[in-house]
Amino acid sequence: MEIVEDTYLVHRYWGKKLTSYHFSNRPPLKKRTFAAAPIAEKPEVSPEFLPFEFPYPHQGDFRNSAVQIQQANGDELVRFCFQSYEIKNGVNQLSDLPHARGADEEAQTLIIYLSDQIAEIELALYYTIFADSSVIVRSSKIKNIGTRPIKIAKLFSASIDVRYDQQLSTTFYGTHQKEFQLNRSEIQHGLYKIGSSRGASGPLYPPYIALSKGADEFRGEVHAMTLIYSGNHEIILERDQYDHLRMQAGLASETFSWQLNAEETFYSPQALLSYSDRGFNGSSQSFHRFFTDHLISPAWKNKERPLLINSWEMTYYDVNHKRIIDLIDAAADLGFETVALDDGWYGKRNSSKTSLGDWTVDTDKFPDGLKPLVDYAKEKNIGFGIWFEPEMISPKTELLQKHPDWVMRSKNYEPLLGRNQYVLDLTNPEVQHFIIETVAKTIMELGVSYVKWDMNRHMTDPFSQQQTFESTEYPHRYMLGLYRVLNELTSAFPEVLFENCSSGGGRLDPGMLFYFPQTWISDNTDGLDRQQIQYGASCLFPISSMTGHVSDVPNHQTNRVVPFKTRAALASSTNMGYEMNIAQLTEDEKKAVRSHLKEYKQERKLIMEGTFHRLQSPFEGNTCGWMFLNKEQAVIYLFRNRYQVFDLSLLIKLPGLDHHALYQEETTRQVYSGSELINCGLALENPKGDCIVQKIKLKKIEAESV
Ligand code: GLA
Repeated sequence: MEIVEDTYLVHRYWGKKLTSYHFSNRPPLKKRTFAAAPIAEKPEVSPEFLPFEFPYPHQGDFRNSAVQIQQANGDELVRFCFQSYEIKNGVNQLSDLPHARGADEEAQTLIIYLSDQIAEIELALYYTIFADSSVIVRSSKIKNIGTRPIKIAKLFSASIDVRYDQQLSTTFYGTHQKEFQLNRSEIQHGLYKIGSSRGASGPLYPPYIALSKGADEFRGEVHAMTLIYSGNHEIILERDQYDHLRMQAGLASETFSWQLNAEETFYSPQALLSYSDRGFNGSSQSFHRFFTDHLISPAWKNKERPLLINSWEMTYYDVNHKRIIDLIDAAADLGFETVALDDGWYGKRNSSKTSLGDWTVDTDKFPDGLKPLVDYAKEKNIGFGIWFEPEMISPKTELLQKHPDWVMRSKNYEPLLGRNQYVLDLTNPEVQHFIIETVAKTIMELGVSYVKWDMNRHMTDPFSQQQTFESTEYPHRYMLGLYRVLNELTSAFPEVLFENCSSGGGRLDPGMLFYFPQTWISDNTDGLDRQQIQYGASCLFPISSMTGHVSDVPNHQTNRVVPFKTRAALASSTNMGYEMNIAQLTEDEKKAVRSHLKEYKQERKLIMEGTFHRLQSPFEGNTCGWMFLNKEQAVIYLFRNRYQVFDLSLLIKLPGLDHHALYQEETTRQVYSGSELINCGLALENPKGDCIVQKIKLKKIEAESV
């Protein structure tokens, strides 16, 4: 960065580590008629060309701004000048937002202060770097140093100006049952904007953008950015008339504002920036390591996650004592470690039309309650988990009769239904208290070890009936309410595994990862569709954070029949579980499941903690391949979808292996050099049939033992 004319904070470089920097790439300034020229004697200094660290409007930089403020007198003008900076050890722990974690000796934070003395506003920019990571954490803070309230109309977390250099942009798009689709495209002149106004981060455009230059999975430069935030966000990419590129991320400006009274401060969520010169795999691997080391709860870092059997696709709402007892018996027999009782256990929940909010056990289905089930599971050394959708309320519930004012809605319009339910008003502290109490009581009374936290609709009426603030403050206030609830519950029960879900990956983002070490990434368990969903999500999220279940065929979402081996390999490539009727398997099926679980347990550490490499993209062809690698071994899966008679064989190259090592393949006992597997690749049979998978297991061996 550089301070230009004692005023402007400009950006100079973000990329590969330099030994030292002497402004070699600083572009010479050139006067241009018609460009803003605030300094009479230096007309070449124009905000129109400067690469800003944090641009504000009305200064002659006519690109998209990162901050907008309305002063008490109605003025929408602010001019932030550089004031000072300081460097502190450690990270900036935001008390009410999820944030990067790090001890004082692991991280350093640079804080740059800018201010507008007329408006009496201070802007602080935070940059945290870590000794063991290439990820940079950025955020911003506004402080009202005046005596009258101001309104923040926009505050991004990060903004970066670079030169356009034929980069491509990569973002995700998606929908329910088709999350994390990759969207890579050329960058046109103009403004490209994605984000969310759903009150949750996805599944349409989760917060992620990458700029890549001549990059594939293995080579080339990738500059990527994401947000530690789970609500409405905005990602901007602007290519201007001089071929400057501006990349920004932050709270969605259209659905945000904040009144800031005298002496108050407001913090933006944190943005994470990762640079890779090893293509998209390098970029994801940095995020994976960062999320594991500096975002998820340390209590769950590298902690073994239970092999789970979930009741949903087995029973849907039709759960009862006998069926769950049978499920526990089958789970114990086959080698599962936790049984999760999904939706249907409370109120009169026989369909999606009722009972959310009435969180008392349905005694028609469970005459003795759930405790005997939890105890029975414990006797068999099986954990027990339970499903909740705590942010919701169904019509015709006792809760709604008692607290009609708890529904998220405006005063004058009937709230709109989504999946037959309304959203609770989490800006209301009474609602927050109710959720904390209800979930905590259930956890304590039952002694469950796992909670699935669902959110099956997004927001259409983001207003509070008690509203004492402007309606554009609502979406962020909702998130602060939710984060408070999650913070209380996950701190009170650190030993309970909380799994995030929003009809699958509808709210999967780094913010949720702070509270939930794992997420059900999609309701689509189909053996074909799932390849793209897992491949896409892995661009940002570590394998340990993505759960995947083996389900029945024909698949309930697509009616497709994919062989068991392929479905098993796909789930084996995640934090694994099952959801099918394991109580009614044939002897052959039981044998297959038993051996699958045994194999997964043997490889679980490698899958969860090894380095993940994407090898062949299901977005580009007929195959999908990836590898789990640690110092000793590698497990590779190659999914080949449609059999084509003219494809005589398959070839998979394995960049990421050790060049100088020798590897032995487990089944054939054949030895290969790392360098040949990397460069020549490994040739494989191309068996007949659709949707097949091949697994290759390599063990590193010493050269002299060959
Ligand atoms: C959502 C979840 C499913 C299941 C159902 C229950 O769709 O994604 O896994 O829990 O809700 O209603």
